[in-house]
Amino acid sequence: MLGRLADVPEDIVPEDVENDMIIAVDGPAASGKGTLAAGLARHYGLPHLDTGLLYRAVGKAAARLEGTDQFEVAAIRAAHEIDGAPLDAAELGGAEIGVLASKVAVIAEVRAALFDLQRRFATQPGGAVLDGRDIGTRIAPEADVKLFISADSKARMERRARQLEARGLSVDRYALYHQIEERDARDMANPNGGFYRAPDAHLLDTTLLGIEAALRAAVAIVDGVMARKAGHRS
Ligand code: C5P
Repeated sequence: MLGRLADVPEDIVPEDVENDMIIAVDGPAASGKGTLAAGLARHYGLPHLDTGLLYRAVGKAAARLEGTDQFEVAAIRAAHEIDGAPLDAAELGGAEIGVLASKVAVIAEVRAALFDLQRRFATQPGGAVLDGRDIGTRIAPEADVKLFISADSKARMERRARQLEARGLSVDRYALYHQIEERDARDMANPNGGFYRAPDAHLLDTTLLGIEAALRAAVAIVDGVMARKAGHRS
């Protein structure tokens, strides 16, 4: 999900970034990684890409052919047509589209078609923040800072339920919990995914943290890593 900037505390102000800085934010569905990535982007004055939206857009484009032998072909074609134009997070944010996204995300050609765009975003001058599943492992393994965001399944379900309710949608929590579990299981088993925590990723468990506390913790990790790097350089 694109982060909800309104949720990011006002007193966390943008900072100038002196050198290119790539921040990779990975984690499972509804872990809060999108909101944290948006908050980090704002804090450090960096552009942000929610890579889940790319897979969601592809899933939506192929939805009508789900269950047919044309689904894969349609998904690959849709992935090639994605050109970096802004995607509508509100339109793509639903739980069913999330499940479709996880179905197209197992197709190697879809991942390959979306790779260059993500790579270009990550390596643009000045740096960038990307969130997804494979940013620290595949898209930007050289990222300066890697965060792996986790939270237990019930907390993730409850957060997603509140986001959907805030948009005026009615939520069946039991069904939502199972959708999240189904998506996690497919993602973890994705043979083309690379959805593991990178060995050099910093774990941030947000189960008991509100948005403000989670963002402060993430900023503290990024600042700590960058300070250590600067110390090694001097
Ligand atoms: O992050 P979000 O929940 O919007 O992602 C939707 C789905 O897209 C994920 O469940 C996953 O299957 C896929 N995805 C992916 N690689 C990424 C980001 C998302 O395969 N970098």
